[in-house]
Amino acid sequence: MKIHHSIILGFTLAATLTAGATLAAAQEADAPPRLHWSFSGPFGTYDPEQLQRGFKIYREVCSNCHSLKLLSFRNLADPDGPAFTEAQAAAIAATFQVTDGPNDQGQMFQRPGKISDTFPPPFPNEQAARAALGGKLPPDMSDLAKARSYEWGFPWFVLDAFTMYQEDGPDYIHAILTGYTDPPPGFVLPPGGQYNKFFPGHAIGMPKPLSDGQVEYTDGTPTTVDQYGRDVAAFLMWAAEPKLDARKRLGFQVMIFLIVFTGLLYFTKKKVWYAVLHDSDLLKPRTPTEYKS
Ligand code: HEC
Repeated sequence: MKIHHSIILGFTLAATLTAGATLAAAQEADAPPRLHWSFSGPFGTYDPEQLQRGFKIYREVCSNCHSLKLLSFRNLADPDGPAFTEAQAAAIAATFQVTDGPNDQGQMFQRPGKISDTFPPPFPNEQAARAALGGKLPPDMSDLAKARSYEWGFPWFVLDAFTMYQEDGPDYIHAILTGYTDPPPGFVLPPGGQYNKFFPGHAIGMPKPLSDGQVEYTDGTPTTVDQYGRDVAAFLMWAAEPKLDARKRLGFQVMIFLIVFTGLLYFTKKKVWYAVLHDSDLLKPRTPTEYKS
């Protein structure tokens, strides 16, 4: 009886593990290549020109499907971000139509955006987005660059702690945009799916959004999918973490302060303990009367 139990248990365990492994293999996506970003490392900062190009990509392409609900137009004038002027940010806002209201008749109405508005979503609600996109929901992009990551496993996570690698979000976004290929033989794509080697499960519901030369750059930057991907991923990283530059600056100042403070403490300690260490009388036991004086 006992033996039977353990055999059954063994089989169940093996079956579960195999099923798990097959599932993992089916879901497994290639590791996104690690790119160099202007904001990598302890002193990296955003490149405003790159963020402006990335914004152009978002606006002309991604914003047709993906919302960016947490970002306001005024954020575009952030000096640690895309660094548009206030006037430019206001002009950009005015090109968007936002829903406002209700007015005196109780109706909602459309008006040009103001600098204080957040980015209007492309679809009024989730159902409308799904209905338009074959049942798939394009995720909001406000924190996408922080919400997506890739597990490299050991020993990467140990090394990453030292190299301060935290760009897996933008690496993943860039990889998705450049990862459209023909499916390998035998891979059955579900209807409406596209093959993407970096998307978990490989069948992505997003049609390939970018192709070479699609968006015009006026500053001579190459108009390739690779470059578009880098720029829009950098922009989305900024959207998800607008205070990154300030955070690194403050961290550096704190380190400098701590180093100076450690030096001061060391010399203070030497001074305070000098008498104790050099005056042997002080180390002798005292009588109660001596204490009183
Ligand atoms: C035609 C509509 C459409 C456009 C345009 C579009 N997307 Fe998507 N996107 C989708 C949909 C739908 C999904 C969800 C796919 C799924 O779940 O299979 C998606 C998913 C994604 C994902 C994967 C998110 C995840 O969950 O891991 C990324 C990254 C992404 N989009 C980035 C972009 C970027 C960057 C742009 C602009 C260059 C863009 N998309 C343009 C519809 C679109």
